[in-house]
Amino acid sequence: MRGMSETETSAPLLPILIYPNPVLRKTARPVTALDADDVRALVPSMFASMYKAPGIGLAANQIGSLLRVIVVDVAPKEQPAPIALINPEIIVKSGETATQEEGCLSIPDQYAEVTRPARVKVRYQDLNGMKKEIEAEGLLSACLQHEIDHLNGVLFVDYLSVLKRNMLLRKLAKAVREQKAR
Ligand code: NI
Repeated sequence: MRGMSETETSAPLLPILIYPNPVLRKTARPVTALDADDVRALVPSMFASMYKAPGIGLAANQIGSLLRVIVVDVAPKEQPAPIALINPEIIVKSGETATQEEGCLSIPDQYAEVTRPARVKVRYQDLNGMKKEIEAEGLLSACLQHEIDHLNGVLFVDYLSVLKRNMLLRKLAKAVREQKAR
């Protein structure tokens, strides 16, 4: 998701794939113990790329990796609160919903209101392979759901009406064309 954080880190930046890159529609695969070194290298670069964008969440698909890894930080930039989630899985969703404006680093400068479960509980592994759970509401809840969707090839525009989605994607295509023409 797009956001205002801009904390600097020194890990190499990775280019963020832009819609309609087909990798954004792929399902990422579970991380195993054999992926430990790759994930350790990937996560700092994902944070660096997310902060640079600036964004508040990034999924591995968006930088061309198909490992189930997401990074999020919805805190103000003066007090960064980075969380890396390996194999994240929503285990509880509230029946109550909430609507928030969402954007996506892979669908730059396009925003729309998306309705999702208001609260979620997510199970994941941290970078040391420890099993953890996090309960979220508000922005963090929407952000976690948005990023976990990416791992399943789902984008926030999929929640919009066909009319709204087509309008937004046409605006994006036009902006990308103009960007390339420059
Ligand atoms: Ni996104």
